[in-house]
Amino acid sequence: MSVIALDQKAKDARPARETAEARALRETTPTHWFPYAAPHARGRDVRENAFSFRGISRKFGDKTVLDNIDLDVPAGQFIAVIGKSGCGKSTLLRLLTGLDRPTSGTLTVNKGAEGQNRTRIMFQEPRLLPWARIAKNVEVGLTGIAKGPQAHEQSLAILREVGLADRAKEWPSVLSGGQRQRVALARALVAHPYILALDEPLGALDALTRIEMQQLLERIWLQQAFTAVLVTHDVSEAVALADRVIVIDHGRIALDIDIPLERPRRHGSPELARLEGQILDTLFGSAA
Ligand SMILES: Nc1ncnc2c1ncn2[C@@H]1O[C@H](COP(=O)(O)OP(=O)(O)OP(=O)(O)O)[C@@H](O)[C@H]1O
Ligand SMILES: [Mg+2]
Repeated sequence: MSVIALDQKAKDARPARETAEARALRETTPTHWFPYAAPHARGRDVRENAFSFRGISRKFGDKTVLDNIDLDVPAGQFIAVIGKSGCGKSTLLRLLTGLDRPTSGTLTVNKGAEGQNRTRIMFQEPRLLPWARIAKNVEVGLTGIAKGPQAHEQSLAILREVGLADRAKEWPSVLSGGQRQRVALARALVAHPYILALDEPLGALDALTRIEMQQLLERIWLQQAFTAVLVTHDVSEAVALADRVIVIDHGRIALDIDIPLERPRRHGSPELARLEGQILDTLFGSAA
């Protein structure tokens, strides 16, 4: 058993800050619209938490960036994190991925069935090694897990998934921005992460490439059943992809809503527009 000290109540509870509106939507929606709550097989015990923040704060000097955050994310959930620039989104991902430590509070990260740390992070820039060919760049994601022909085979398999198997022997410099980001996604996914943290991974892409990447990400998430934590500035991207959206404001979770819509979702649908409006109202205040 690789879960460490998870709170039993938290395991069974729905998110504590579910709004009345989200509750009404949930109660009138078939359960299969909630992948993390539904009893179908996505290859994993969907009742366990992927990670739990308990009273997590992060201060830099006198400045409190995250203030007493409580957050339980069930395994396999796709959660989006939204908030104004500087509100602490990247800080939250850095804590989750072990790149930083909280000033106070308890953070429990489930390492997954293998008991190894399979948390990966992807950034806005692909951060590829310019001196290594594409396949080798992807193999970096298997460091300490696999090497040699086995690593190469796994690297080619995931490159096939992201549609770049035919570019395996090329250098990063000859790829387009969108293709490099797909290599970065392949590198993040090659070890079959339990948790994938994404820090605005599509932020630098043009609108069409961005929609393609969103579809790719959703398809692979549905196949691999990892827990996705997507930081984005794009509210429509958040509601198109996520099961749940949280908004961070002044160091706290100001909104925590489920997105109970079937997949694939249609960009521009009235349901998505209504949820987008609710999130934008939290970010900028309601005009009413
Ligand atoms: N190592 C650090 N030392 C001092 N302050 C820091 C450090 N890391 C982050 N901060 C501060 O914490 C706050 C939150 O930063 P963070 O990068 O988490 O914001 P963000 O929500 O990701 O913003 P953006 O949307 O612009 O990426 C900022 O005010 C930032 O200056
Ligand atoms: Mg950031």
